[in-house]
Amino acid sequence: MRLPEEKIDEIRRAADIVDVVSDYVRLLPSGRSYKAISPFNPTERTPSFFVSPEKQIYKCFSTGKGGNVFTFVQEMEKLSFIDAVKFVAKKVGIDLSQYERQASPIADKYGEEYDLMAWAAKRFHANLNAKEGKAGLEYLLGRGLLKETISKFGLGYALDSWDSLCDAAKKEGKSLKLLEEFGLIARGEKSDKLYDVFRARAMFPIFSPAGKVIAFGGRLLVDEKDAPKYINSPETRLYRKSEVLYGFNFARDEIRKKDEAILVEGYMDVISLHQAGVKTAVASSGTSLTTEQARLIARLTKHVLFVYDGDKAGVRAMMRGIDILLEQGISPMVLFLPNDEDPDSFAQKVGGEEFLKYANARKTSFLDFKIDVLRSSDGFSDEERTRNSVRELVGTIAKIPDELGREVYLKSLAEKLDVSLGALQKELNALLKRDAPKRFPVPKPASNPKEAESSAQNAPQKNALPVAERTFLKAMLESAYHGNEVLEFVKEKLPILRFKHEWTEKLARFFLERYEARDKNSPFDPTRELNYLDDENLRNFVSELLIDEGISERWQPEPPSVYARRCLMAFLDATRKIIAQTYDDALSENMRALGAETDAAKIGALITERNNLVKAKRDAEAEFEQTVKSLAGTH
Ligand code: UTP
Ligand code: MN
Repeated sequence: MRLPEEKIDEIRRAADIVDVVSDYVRLLPSGRSYKAISPFNPTERTPSFFVSPEKQIYKCFSTGKGGNVFTFVQEMEKLSFIDAVKFVAKKVGIDLSQYERQASPIADKYGEEYDLMAWAAKRFHANLNAKEGKAGLEYLLGRGLLKETISKFGLGYALDSWDSLCDAAKKEGKSLKLLEEFGLIARGEKSDKLYDVFRARAMFPIFSPAGKVIAFGGRLLVDEKDAPKYINSPETRLYRKSEVLYGFNFARDEIRKKDEAILVEGYMDVISLHQAGVKTAVASSGTSLTTEQARLIARLTKHVLFVYDGDKAGVRAMMRGIDILLEQGISPMVLFLPNDEDPDSFAQKVGGEEFLKYANARKTSFLDFKIDVLRSSDGFSDEERTRNSVRELVGTIAKIPDELGREVYLKSLAEKLDVSLGALQKELNALLKRDAPKRFPVPKPASNPKEAESSAQNAPQKNALPVAERTFLKAMLESAYHGNEVLEFVKEKLPILRFKHEWTEKLARFFLERYEARDKNSPFDPTRELNYLDDENLRNFVSELLIDEGISERWQPEPPSVYARRCLMAFLDATRKIIAQTYDDALSENMRALGAETDAAKIGALITERNNLVKAKRDAEAEFEQTVKSLAGTH
């Protein structure tokens, strides 16, 4: 799909970034902006995420990320730019169907890849209705799935054939290379012949958060001893296993609404729960939960019910998973199902309502769960074991990011195990000290942009701009919301300006180019231009400049004309300093050389150079003042 720029602008203007962001975090008013716990860093305790409704910009001071409404959606939903635009359009109710079928000259990022996966998923699904696919349909129905569930989850069947997919791909001109890369077909070791990887398996498409097929899991219809029950797609550029939760695309809205998520192990667990009306279920698909998966949930809710299988592997996985959830600020509840049940079988047996009733009655805190598990594996049978178990439990509590939370659970642990709180506290403190650098890898977020900014300046990735250049850029951008005066000035003077920091130069050039190429009928809007600023570091930096209200205390709320005037003044002041700096640097270099030189001829040359520099500086300053005067004359 290719959208005209005007359409993209229309969508951006129709969307309020405050609304869009509110879908992900709770915004609190803070002066002229809003602040929130960063959705990129949900464990932080002090809000470091700011949104400016005026400029329609956000900036996270703990991760450095910033941008406009589209980059925000890109980041949160892991979408390409154009998909983020579509996502926002849908939200604000702008219909894009007229553009749907237009071939895109600049293909969406990964457009071909997504198309191919969708194509394969459709084929597998269609097989269910073919004669050769009957076994697949019978299997899925036999597992208690309704037709509509099968459709919703896009389930399918890979035929009992070595070349069904290969042949279809060849016939329809699909890229065999991509299919091979995505693990749907493979090459025979000796014959070099291509063959289908998934054969006679029920197919579970795995979706991205935006609902695109990115991988598959394929299940044997009949469990066999020597074959894996499920085979899954390999990691690809679409599918990073550790970052995907199965069912997330279906569950997201419901999780947000109910402020709760149910975390299960398998594909079937998710599907059966959703079918039973419990639509907050997502699966880690496999044994151990990853940090990225936990983070995905933590963005939506802090209330998680952990229900893995009750077998040994499941329990072990939960023991680890609990710590990972705790690190993301989630204190999970844990549910043990009756013997031999998993969420799939139990939901099918008793239905959604009963499932939830049972869960509410039987769920235990993660701490009780861990104590129980340790107890049942003889973790408290003698002093030595008890000591190790207590250590392990304190280690788990140490994962909790906030002090109060740690305190509460530590106290509870002391009571439950009848150990003194003091001893536990000592152990905890030792652990916290040891892990301190690991626990807080990001600079400690501050509570307002100014403070945050100074602490973010210590961040290693940030190279500091000289104050004059920062002001120059800030004033240039800020003023652009109120007119073109400063941009016109930059256009004229850019050739004579020498910047110390490459970012200043790059950004001045970028905005100038965009300014020159602008649609002369609409005002120049720096927020819009972020769409075209590809360098993420620069984009983050510009967002920071834009959201920062306080480069100068003078920049308080004022009528736009007065404010625009102030921007111009600050800008001229900064430019004056930059011009002077250009020559002053050369002059000090000249001074240094003079001091070190003994050769008379060379000294003469240096003095001539010095005189020229002084004169050039005076000329440049005079010329600058002349322009300033003529600018002032226009007011
Ligand atoms: P389970 O063995 O619990 O499977 O594995 P399940 O989801 O209950 O499936 P059914 O009910 O037997 O059909 C849980 C999850 O672990 C992954 C899959 O994501 C599965 O859903 N898994 C399991 C594999 O990737 N490969 C395997 O061989 C087994
Ligand atoms: Mn199962």
